Parts: sequence; C-alpha cells; structure tokens
Amino acid sequence: MNIAVFASGRGSNFQAILNAIDAGLIPARIVVLISNKSDSGALEIARTRGIPTSHLSQKMFPSEATFAEAMLNVLSKQRADLIVLAGYLKKIPVQVVRTFRNRILNIHPALLPSFGGMGMFGHFVHEAVIESGVKVSGASVHLVDEEYDRGPIVMQKTVQVTPDDTADSLAAKVLTIEHEIYPLAVKAFAEGKVKIEGKKAWIM
Ligand code: GRF
Repeated sequence: MNIAVFASGRGSNFQAILNAIDAGLIPARIVVLISNKSDSGALEIARTRGIPTSHLSQKMFPSEATFAEAMLNVLSKQRADLIVLAGYLKKIPVQVVRTFRNRILNIHPALLPSFGGMGMFGHFVHEAVIESGVKVSGASVHLVDEEYDRGPIVMQKTVQVTPDDTADSLAAKVLTIEHEIYPLAVKAFAEGKVKIEGKKAWIM
C-alpha cells in the first residue's frame, strides 16, 4: 500500500508511522509528504529520509478547485492509495475527499465525537477538555469525510485526566498514546482489516 502523509507541524506522528514501517510492522511505504507549511518539521523529516515532498497551500492557487486538482495530481503521480493526516491543520478539499472516499485517516487528540470540530486543534482541545471536568480524554483515529472530525471512528484509546493536569501535561499524555495507536490503525488499514459500514468502522 502506498501512503501519502499530510502534515503541517513537527511531524511526531509521521515519525511514529515511519518507525513502524521501518520495523516491518506496517506493509506499506510512504510515497509522498505533503505540507501546507514550507518550514514544517515533517517536511524536514521527509527530506532527510529521501521521501518525495510537496509544499501545497491554498494560498498558491486561485480557487479550491485548482488547489484540489494540484493535490490530486501529486497523489496520482505518486500512486497513493491511502492518505494519512498527521497534524494537518487545513480542511481537505472536497474533491480530494470524494476521490479518496474512506481512504483518508486522521488522528485527533481527544475522544470524538466530543471536543472536535472547527477550531478544535492543538491546545484548544486540551483546554476545553480540562475546562469541562471530564475524567478521561484520549486519542481517536477516524476516517475523514466532508465535515471536521466527523467520519467513522476506527480506533480510540483513553488517558486519565488528573487534578494536576494542565493543557500541556494532558497534551503530552495524549501524544504518547497517539504514537501507539496511529501506527496500529494504519497497519490494520494496510492489511485490509478495516471494515466500514455507513457511519461505523471496525477493525476485524
Ligand atoms: C497531534 O496532537 C494530532 O493529534 C493532531 O495534531 C498533532 C500533530 O502532532 N492532529 P505531530 O505534528 O504529529 O507531532
């Protein structure tokens, strides 16, 4: 399976997936790293590894349609079968979602369907979790559809929220389990074990 990774930031989830591929755990290869940020850590990791990179930002295009077309061109040139969003902070153009229906994974640093949606990223998520008083948080791997953080959930794992937690300490706890479950979910997908029925996804 050929994977295209999309990332905007430091790329620690990208690195976790690369490590799992290197260890022979995931029967797949990363064919391209696409980033909307020319200075992202993820782009740097890809360059160091000799993985093809593409810097694509909506700002470089006159419309969403031309942006989507450029993205689809890169994906088809590299023969991508699956898109893995690893800290990609932009919405995927609808034409790309349609072309890759049920073949786009994302990781969200909370237990969806709570604490998701537009504007819920980074420290905003963890602040909202702490503010709400819930006792557990976690990470969710889900399929991407046209709405933010709404596609079928593939895998989740929880962490405890403790009285001394700050947004930073909670983010660190959640990130540790992100690095655990994202490679597992990608592995399940690459092995054809993810079954999708309507709004639900299961690993068989
Ligand atoms: C992670 O917390 C992930 O859940 C969210 O963005 C962050 C990306 O971190 N979608 P990294 O770039 O993978 O280190």
